[in-house]
Amino acid sequence: MPFGALIDGRAIAGEIHQETARRAAQVKARGVQPCLVFIRAGEDAASRVYVGMKEKACAQLGFASRTQVLPATTREEDLLALLAGLNGDAAVHGILVQAPLPRHISESRIYGAVDPNKDVDGFHPVNVGKLMLGDTSGFRSCTPAGIHELLIRSGVVIEGAEVVILGRGNIVGKPMAAILVQKAKHAGATVTVCHSQTRDIAAHCRRADILIAAMGAAEFVKADMVKPGAVVIDVGVNRVPDAAVRGGSRLVGDVDFAGVRPKAGKITPNPGGVGPMTIALLMHNTMRAAERAAGLASPP
Ligand code: GUN
Repeated sequence: MPFGALIDGRAIAGEIHQETARRAAQVKARGVQPCLVFIRAGEDAASRVYVGMKEKACAQLGFASRTQVLPATTREEDLLALLAGLNGDAAVHGILVQAPLPRHISESRIYGAVDPNKDVDGFHPVNVGKLMLGDTSGFRSCTPAGIHELLIRSGVVIEGAEVVILGRGNIVGKPMAAILVQKAKHAGATVTVCHSQTRDIAAHCRRADILIAAMGAAEFVKADMVKPGAVVIDVGVNRVPDAAVRGGSRLVGDVDFAGVRPKAGKITPNPGGVGPMTIALLMHNTMRAAERAAGLASPP
């Protein structure tokens, strides 16, 4: 078996964007332009970058988009009122409230107030519940859905695989487990979710055919934690100090890429692995929301 093959997230995201662009042309022929509205509250530097990248993807696909930037002092009631307006606006197909929100605002209240049919982030309890139930009519959270596509389109066999996920967050770890454990095509894995209370994480990792690192700990996964030939997916984005580079810091993943690559069968680079897929699946979800609004069939 060859070792250290790269899973090219940029190339696979490009394929998905092409499929989305074809679907966009069909809804446009019916007079509908897919439209995604972003809401950003406060001045989180990373959020500004992420929303900027998502806006650029909208422009490239010919989607309409706009961003509402709210002050960090915005009251929860005001954000809820804004959402109610967008929920009722037929020209808006998708709504994305960028996390993190200011601390005085309840994320669960906000995500629960987005119309589930416009919840292209897949964070509303209805969509999370559908995912758990294996009902494909809902929206799946973009990062785990993107990782699922990466695995499928790289030819990784998921059925019966031992999958170990590091991290139990609502955005990645928990929905990732739900996707891969389903009794369905390209699923049916045996899934273990590790977290800060797990005893001997390394022992779990060494069993994994597919190892997904999403716990936000810089270069946590080392070569001695990886089974030879395993597929390794790195979701982490961690800023670490580095006096040798301009700016004094650099971004690293949750995987020690240089150390792990020679032992892995396939591995995502970081950047260029999971990140572009998250955006591709956001555009895909928005496309589906617009198709439904246009009365077209909308495959998952
Ligand atoms: N913050 C980090 N990841 C995400 C995401 O996928 N969606 C939103 N809305 N905010 C995020």
